[in-house]
Amino acid sequence: MGCIFAHFALFAVGKSFQHDAVPELPQINYPDLPVAQRRDEILKAMRSHQVVIVVGETGSGKTTQLPKMAYELACEEGKDGRIGCTQPRRLAAATVARRVAEEMGTGLGERVGYQVRFVEKVKDETTIKFMTDGILLAETQRDRDLRQYDTLIIDEAHERSLNIDFILGYLKNLLGRRKDPVSYTHLTLPTKIV
Ligand SMILES: Nc1ncnc2c1ncn2[C@@H]1O[C@H](COP(=O)(O)OP(=O)(O)OP(=O)(O)O)[C@@H](O)[C@H]1O
Ligand SMILES: [Mg+2]
Repeated sequence: MGCIFAHFALFAVGKSFQHDAVPELPQINYPDLPVAQRRDEILKAMRSHQVVIVVGETGSGKTTQLPKMAYELACEEGKDGRIGCTQPRRLAAATVARRVAEEMGTGLGERVGYQVRFVEKVKDETTIKFMTDGILLAETQRDRDLRQYDTLIIDEAHERSLNIDFILGYLKNLLGRRKDPVSYTHLTLPTKIV
């Protein structure tokens, strides 16, 4: 685990983003969770690095709060791409999407949606999309540069399943390709302290 993470952290060094301020930001509320308390720090890291690794204890708010921060940042940067959040398990993808939709005061399948095998609750206006890592891998076959996403959050990266390892390898190359200022891809890897 240390190796892969060190690799990604190194990869991020020296990458900085150009962003145009957008005046109207949506109001996003955060519950009182450890990850939310570090919001400023996390946003600062996401603004200046292509890859950010977030490590936190179980229940600290990685899965539910980081997508909202990525959404805030995308609005601030004037981007209209999606925030793609992967989960290893189908049930988690649906449950977490429901929870984040609730927290953001939107219906499931609207601003926040999810896709797992045989179920797709995603509309054109869906900005935060949860999905299994298998779905993201399948999408690489149709869209090599994953252009629909401005930000990817690979959750439970420490599990190092085959899917996650393939995704991390794929994204390493993708981040090298997508260097243009308008389409910088943020990659956030939340994981537990193990
Ligand atoms: N569907 C839900 N209903 C009620 N509370 C929830 C729900 N989902 C998350 N929470 C609460 O929100 C908090 C943050 O959960 P979150 O899943 O973001 O943590 P996490 O850091 O990703 O944890 P883990 O490392 O176990 O994945 C937790 O205290 C959890 O109990
Ligand atoms: Mg989690």
